[in-house]
Amino acid sequence: MSSAENAAQQLKELAADIAREAGDPAQRRRAAGVSLAATKSTLADIVTEADREVEALIRDRLHRERPGDGFLGEESGAGESATGVTWIVDPIDGTVNYAYGLPVYGVSIAAVEGGAEVGRWHALAAAVCAPVLGELFTAARGSGAWLDSTRLSVTSDTTAGALLATGFGYDPSTHDGDLQTMRQVMPIARDVRRSGSAAIDLSYVAAGRLDGYFERGLQPWDFAAGALMVEEAGGALTLLDTASARPMVIAGGADVHARLTAILDNR
Ligand code: IPD
Ligand code: CA
Repeated sequence: MSSAENAAQQLKELAADIAREAGDPAQRRRAAGVSLAATKSTLADIVTEADREVEALIRDRLHRERPGDGFLGEESGAGESATGVTWIVDPIDGTVNYAYGLPVYGVSIAAVEGGAEVGRWHALAAAVCAPVLGELFTAARGSGAWLDSTRLSVTSDTTAGALLATGFGYDPSTHDGDLQTMRQVMPIARDVRRSGSAAIDLSYVAAGRLDGYFERGLQPWDFAAGALMVEEAGGALTLLDTASARPMVIAGGADVHARLTAILDNR
């Protein structure tokens, strides 16, 4: 293992440890009942107190272990990096599922270099913990993607059509466009899933549980960890509309990724 791979591996172990730890209070708080602390752009975008508490836990722990690193979290904004490493964190990805008592949500933590600006960073390590599902996905640059101790690979044979996942942002004014995009993509799909967590969708692409994924309008913390998972599982991931801070993310095995890109690039 090269020294860069070794360093990435250590970041991954830290990310995994913290993601696992952070999953506990998320689950405990949910069991105790969620109270809605605030709403963001629209009513559908529910921000729970748990979100904030879990992010504070992750941020504090990272600060203790690696005080010079930068931090970008969904709830607490960006902090500068003195080491070149920045952590991009979604404390609870899938907050609507969380608020409704659905089990598909996860803690998503990525370590990147190159800053946290979309399209500029180079991911080093990632962890996505889905506490209710009891699963921990991890990846380190150059050392593969893993579900617990099983190495992951994306699918390659989709002759019967691709099982795709996508998501719809919380802004109702974008839904018509998203539905048109769906119509364009359907010819290559055997079926479509909408799980409610981009981090878990991308982890599932890495695990071969989905053949492909696309979504417009994601934030860095939604996909930073999952993107590395897909790449380290042998898949491809690209961003379209990179002039926007919230691009379209396309992920899958080589063939599905190419077919999705051909459709989405011309939409
Ligand atoms: C959301 C989830 C969802 C995706 C949305 C994201 P949040 O993140 O990842 O699957 O469709 O675009 O905003 O709000 O649950 O952290
Ligand atoms: Ca999210």
